[in-house]
Order: sequence, then C-alpha cells, then structure tokens
Amino acid sequence: MLLSPRITALLLAVLISALTTVFLAFVEGVTNSMLFVAGVSSFGVSFFLILYAIEILVYREVDKMYKTIHKLKLKDFNITRKSISKNNNPFKKLNDEIFVYVAKKQKEIEELRRIEQFRREFLADVSHELKTPIFAAQGFIHTLLDGAIDDEKVRGKFLAKAAKSLDGLDALVKDLVALSQLETGEVKMHFERVDLHEVVGEIFDQLEKIAHNKGVSLKVRTDKPNGTWVKADPQRIVQVMTNLIENAIKYGNEHGKVLVSLEEDKKNILVSVKDDGPGIPPEHLSRIFERFYRVDKSRSKERGGTGLGLAIVKHILNAHKSKITVMSKMEKGTTFSFKLEKTD
Ligand SMILES: Nc1ncnc2c1ncn2[C@@H]1O[C@H](COP(=O)(O)OP(=O)(O)OP(=O)(O)O)[C@@H](O)[C@H]1O
Ligand SMILES: [Mg+2]
Repeated sequence: MLLSPRITALLLAVLISALTTVFLAFVEGVTNSMLFVAGVSSFGVSFFLILYAIEILVYREVDKMYKTIHKLKLKDFNITRKSISKNNNPFKKLNDEIFVYVAKKQKEIEELRRIEQFRREFLADVSHELKTPIFAAQGFIHTLLDGAIDDEKVRGKFLAKAAKSLDGLDALVKDLVALSQLETGEVKMHFERVDLHEVVGEIFDQLEKIAHNKGVSLKVRTDKPNGTWVKADPQRIVQVMTNLIENAIKYGNEHGKVLVSLEEDKKNILVSVKDDGPGIPPEHLSRIFERFYRVDKSRSKERGGTGLGLAIVKHILNAHKSKITVMSKMEKGTTFSFKLEKTD
C-alpha cells in the first residue's frame, strides 16, 4: 500500500528534524531554544520540499500520463466516461489503465489477424473455384478450334460441355456478387406479406424434374393451408427455400423423402426442411454455413454446388432478424429450421 504524499512528507520531515535535533544535541554550547528552532525549521523546510517533490514532480506527471492513456482508451474503444478509476493513487490508476489498454489492443490485433487469415483463405477459394470452370470451357473450345469442330459427332457435345462450364461460372459469380452485397448491407430487404405455402408449392414445381430423376418425394405440411402469411422479402425468401429444398434433394438419398413444414406459434411461423438422407457428420455441422464449405468436396461439386448456398441463406435470414439452425443424425437425415414473423 502506498501512503498519500502528505503523510509521506510528514513522516520524512519528522525523521529529518529528529535526526538534525539529536545530532545538534551532541554539539557543545547548543541551547534548548537553538535546538527547538533548528528542529522546527528543518521540519518545516523538509516537509514542504518533500511534498513539492512528490506532488508536482511525480504525482502530477503520473496523473497526466494516466489521463492521456485514459483518453486514448476512450477514443479507441468508445467507452463511456463513467469508468474513470476512483482510486486516488495515480501509480495504481496508471497501472490499471495500461493493463486494460494493452489487453484491449491485444484483442484488437488478434481480431485483425483472424480477419486477415479469413480474407487470404477466401481469395484462395475464389480463385480456385473460378479456375475450374474457366479451364474446362477453355479446354473444350481450344480442342474444337484445333480441329474437333469438323467432327460432327463431338462438335455438339463439346460445345454443350463448354456452355455448361460457363453456366456454372455465371452462377458462381452471381452468388459471389449476391453474397458480397448482403455482407456490406448494400441490398435492402423489401418486406411484404408472403404466403409461404404458395412459395413452397412453386419451388416444388421448379424442382420437380430433379426430384423425379432421383425418385425423391416432396411434401409440404402446414397448419394454415389457406395461406401461411409471413413478413418477408419475397424474392429472398424464395432463394432461401430453394437452396434448402434443393440441398435436401441433392444430398438426400435416392427415393428419399423431403418434408417442408410450416408450423404456427404465437408470433412466428416455424419453417423446417427435413430430409431422410445420410446426414451431416457432427464435426462439419458448425462449418456448413461458411463460404465454399462442402462436406464431401468431390461429391458436392459433382452435383453442381458452389458451396455458397447456405452462406447466402444465413445472411438473408439475418436480414430478416432470424437465425437458421441445423440438426442432423447420421443415416437418419437432416433438418434445417428458422422462424419468420407471422402476419394476417
Ligand atoms: N440436407 C443436407 N444433407 C446433407 N448434406 C448437406 C445438406 N445440405 C447441405 N449439405 C452440405 O453442406 C454443404 C454446403 O451447402 P450449400 O448449400 O452451402 O452449398 P452447395 O449446395 O454445395 O452449393 P450451392 O448451394 O451454392 O449450389 C453441401 O456441399 C453439403 O455437403
Ligand atoms: Mg446448396
């Protein structure tokens, strides 16, 4: 514990005057009144000198440093002024402030490092994803130019393959643009009354062909068959539902079942998309909403996925103040669910 400057000065002054008086007492011819004057004056002078030294030269300077660091902290971290330390000891205050400041700066540096790493990985992923369809299309077109164009049998096939690669590239770039716009908050949601039951019906019609090819049955169950109205951006919610239903078909089993249910509670409609497919291994569950993340890289790619679907879904639902959750059991199936605000 540190003493206050006054008490420190008082103690030191008493010590100095006592030493001076005792020392003088041994000198011959010194009277009591001389001793008294010497004691009092040495006490007075040393008290004020010591107090001045501590107060002005040390405490005030330290206090200034403390205030500067405190201001820096307020500016850097937007902290309210209330948190100014109540402690009177400037050394302790300075120590506390430096400790807090350094800890916060350290956190900030770690966060920046994490973002930097994320950015680097993202760039690597994007270049890799773009490279694949470009190389494929380039290969087919060059083969055609090198003479395959004269062969009627392969001409159509190669052109169709090149076109398919370019379509994939187009879809990828569109998804990337959508994702970056959602992330920067550039796209504003246009909330309207939307009938989710009708939306699911339309998506089923669109996906009927791929479901039929795989022998997958599509079903919807709702508490309100005459209109399950929610407040949502119609276009975006179609995008969300399409990806979830398409995933359930693509990654589910042959001859599997996909069930979309729309359940009502007090304020919301709980939407869930369930399949009875092979499920997602638990170690992948927390990562499937990341950009480009695929559980089985080769198989997902074979099925034409870019791995951006769920990242987009997550962002759109965030903009609807909702959150997507996933539950999956190996060999039993996967269920994605989220809530949307109900309207009449
Ligand atoms: N219902 C599901 N069952 C099993 N795995 C799934 C299911 N839904 C998603 N996944 C896994 O999560 C990954 C990410 O899905 P996401 O929709 O983000 O990408 P994608 O479907 O591969 O591509 P995209 O949606 O862009 O066409 C998929 O590659 C797949 O491995
Ligand atoms: Mg998908």
